[in-house]
Amino acid sequence: MALSDLSSTLHTDQLKREIRGLWWPLRIARAIRRELAAGGIYGIQWGDPEVWTPLRFIRDRYVLPFIKPEHTALDIGCGGGRWTRQLLGFNRVYAVDYYEDLLVEFRRSFRRYKHVTAIRNNGTDFPGVPAQSVDYILSFGCFGHINQGLISSYLANIRPILKPGGNAVIHYSDKNKIMAQGSGFSDNTPEEMRALVRRHGFRIIDEDTTTMWNGAIVHFTI
Ligand SMILES: C[S@@+](CC[C@H](N)C(=O)[O-])C[C@H]1O[C@@H](n2cnc3c(N)ncnc32)[C@H](O)[C@@H]1O
Repeated sequence: MALSDLSSTLHTDQLKREIRGLWWPLRIARAIRRELAAGGIYGIQWGDPEVWTPLRFIRDRYVLPFIKPEHTALDIGCGGGRWTRQLLGFNRVYAVDYYEDLLVEFRRSFRRYKHVTAIRNNGTDFPGVPAQSVDYILSFGCFGHINQGLISSYLANIRPILKPGGNAVIHYSDKNKIMAQGSGFSDNTPEEMRALVRRHGFRIIDEDTTTMWNGAIVHFTI
C-alpha cells in the first residue's frame, strides 16, 4: 500500500499512538524526563536541539558529524549554553558571549565541565583563543540579531583562529522570510551572507536556507 493513496493508515495509526500517549501518568513521566534532560538550561524555551524536530535535524547535520574527542570547538553567542551542551564531546570548548549576565548564567550551568571555558568578548573578538587552534565554530541565534558590520568583523576575527580545513556553521537572519521581518532581526539574506563570507576568503561548503523559519545556515571553511 502506497503511503499517499487513500488506503493509507498513516493518519489513523498516528491518532491511535497519540491517544495511547495521552494517558496522564505517561505524560507526567515524559514531562519530568524532558525537564531533567534539559538540565535547567536558559534558552531551552526556544526549542531543545535534542527534542524539537527542526533543531534536531540541524544538530544531526551540522553539529554531531564534526565532534571529535581530540578537537576544539567554539560557540559564539553561547547564551545559556543550549547549543554548547551539544559540543561537550569536543576536547576543549570555548563559549563566547558579549553580555556578562548571560555568562554568569552560562557558568552556573556548566561549572562542572572543566574543558569548557566561558569568555567575555568585545562583541566580535576572541580574547585568549590561540591562532589556528579551533576546529569547529558554531553560532546559533546570535548573528540573527547583529548588524552586517559586526558580522563582517566576526568573520575577519574567525579567520586567524580557525584551523585550515576547520568548519564554521553560522545561523543568521533571512529577511526574505516573514518571521524575520519583525524588529530584532538583522538585515541579512542568504545572498548578502554568502557574499560576506566569500569576501573574507572562506569557501562555502553547504547551506540550509529552508529549515529555519526566521533565518538560514551557512557552513564554511578556510
Ligand atoms: C538569542 S540568544 C542565543 C543563545 C544561544 N546561542 C542559544 O541558541 O540558546 C543570543 C545570544 O547572543 C549573545 N550576543 C548578542 N550579541 C553578541 C555579540 N556581538 N557577541 C557575542 N554574543 C552576543 C547574547 O548575549 C545572547 O546570549
